[in-house]
Amino acid sequence: VDELILEGVVVTLNLDGSPNIAPMGPRVDRDITRLVLRPFRTSQTYQNLKRQPEGVLHVTDDVELIARAAIGQPDPLPPLVPLESIRVLRLADCCRWFAFRVTALDDADERTTIQCRVVERGTVRDFFGLNRAKHAVLEAAILATRIGILPADEIRSQLQRLAPLVQKTAGDQERRAFALLDDYIGKGLHAERPSERVASDAAK
Ligand SMILES: Cc1cc2nc3c(=O)[nH]c(=O)nc-3n(C[C@H](O)[C@H](O)[C@H](O)COP(=O)(O)O)c2cc1C
Repeated sequence: VDELILEGVVVTLNLDGSPNIAPMGPRVDRDITRLVLRPFRTSQTYQNLKRQPEGVLHVTDDVELIARAAIGQPDPLPPLVPLESIRVLRLADCCRWFAFRVTALDDADERTTIQCRVVERGTVRDFFGLNRAKHAVLEAAILATRIGILPADEIRSQLQRLAPLVQKTAGDQERRAFALLDDYIGKGLHAERPSERVASDAAK
């Protein structure tokens, strides 16, 4: 089967019953009947799926939500609605949603592999369409989650290459989302600097 990555937003159930919202890129088949999620063992999404093996994957063009969810939990939470097949709620606003159940979970490695089967699906509204600023925000959101993993200079230079796409093609939502991520990354890399300095001092 032809499989590819679908960048979406996954909602799972926290221990206290509240929803957890996280951008995740599962591998899917073209018809999206199955997903393979690869969350790190440190992620809330993994911990929730291990305990409560169901969730909802959303296709959305709302890159501001993706940006906010990438760097923490969106506050306030976006509106959610209950589903018939599972206990987890779905985002009220999205393009498409796919409720899934976990069929197999392999957490031997730090990056886990979680096989899921889609049990219910729906369409809410049209997808806006391709837009370079939206994709730039998506890439910046991934960079924001790679602080401490990728070298600071690489994050900085990649972010700089994305900025003109936002300047040229964004609307308000994309501009706000990119500014949020730019600010978060700036602060995150700044906070990282002392240890870098220690490392370079030690190298002298
Ligand atoms: C577009 C996008 C795709 C992502 N895909 C994954 C993924 O497949 N696996 C993963 O562990 N983290 C992925 N991340 C990073 C997580 O969203 C990030 O680590 C988040 O903080 C995890 O949230 P959680 O702890 O609430 O689960 C992705 C981020 C973005 C922006």
